[in-house]
Amino acid sequence: IIPAPYWLSYPEMVKLAGATPVIVKTTEANEFKITPDQLLSAITPKTKLFILNSPSNPTGTVYTKEEIKALADICLDKGVFIMSDEIYEKLVYDGTEHVSAASFSSDHYSNTIIVHGFSKAYSMTGWRLGFLAAPEPIAKAIDAIQSHSTSNPTSFAQRGAIAALTGPHDHLNVWLSEFSRRRNYAWRRLNEIPGITCINAKGAFYLFPNISSFGLSSTEFCAQLLEKELVAAVPGIAFGADECIRISYATSMENIEKGLDRLERFCKSLSK
Ligand SMILES: Cc1ncc(COP(=O)(O)O)c(C=O)c1O
Repeated sequence: IIPAPYWLSYPEMVKLAGATPVIVKTTEANEFKITPDQLLSAITPKTKLFILNSPSNPTGTVYTKEEIKALADICLDKGVFIMSDEIYEKLVYDGTEHVSAASFSSDHYSNTIIVHGFSKAYSMTGWRLGFLAAPEPIAKAIDAIQSHSTSNPTSFAQRGAIAALTGPHDHLNVWLSEFSRRRNYAWRRLNEIPGITCINAKGAFYLFPNISSFGLSSTEFCAQLLEKELVAAVPGIAFGADECIRISYATSMENIEKGLDRLERFCKSLSK
């Protein structure tokens, strides 16, 4: 079970494993969060795994402790594992707290597969290193596949990872205040554009504005935006939400200002 909007690789990963992705659409009005009722009604005797990603790519949504607990309780009760993708754990704003689905009890811990990586909070994106924590039989099965597919991570990347995990995290304070400044600026500018609505992100470094009022598919909208204004945004359809586009604020304030000026001009030209 995958709540949409989702990180675009999840459905493909599920298919690669020979399983069937069951997509549950969430709403902007509910901050793109799956509700306990939605999860319950999607679970069948065939359900194996619930994929949770908080903070979320593409929406920037962060579930509260109570919300995660409610979802985790249902999974525990129904015998469904949770794969909790916590790769944006360190990137949260406005005093928001990241809570892991594994943290509530030893039963929750044993029912959770945490996936994580070094790309986001440590800028080690090109180093291709991630990690997971899972019940031993699952970790062993994953290891068996991994060792014959991607083999082993490079030794220098492993040393870098140790430094990242055990070293000072001072950079994060600087990053978080800068990301938050860019996020608030971009969010305000987006909502000032007639025809666009956008909820503010609580984590990660994306905003997911709704562009459906312009009457274009997200692919067509992004293609025209690129063609006419040289601004790259990702069509929401890739994340299972054709009414939105994804923008990233992991770039300079100058670029964000320029990009939003151009997006604004583009939207005005569509409204004429
Ligand atoms: C939610 C989420 N999970 C996992 C990844 C994978 O990151 P990487 O392959 O860089 O470790 C990404 C990257 O964008 C992501 O957004």
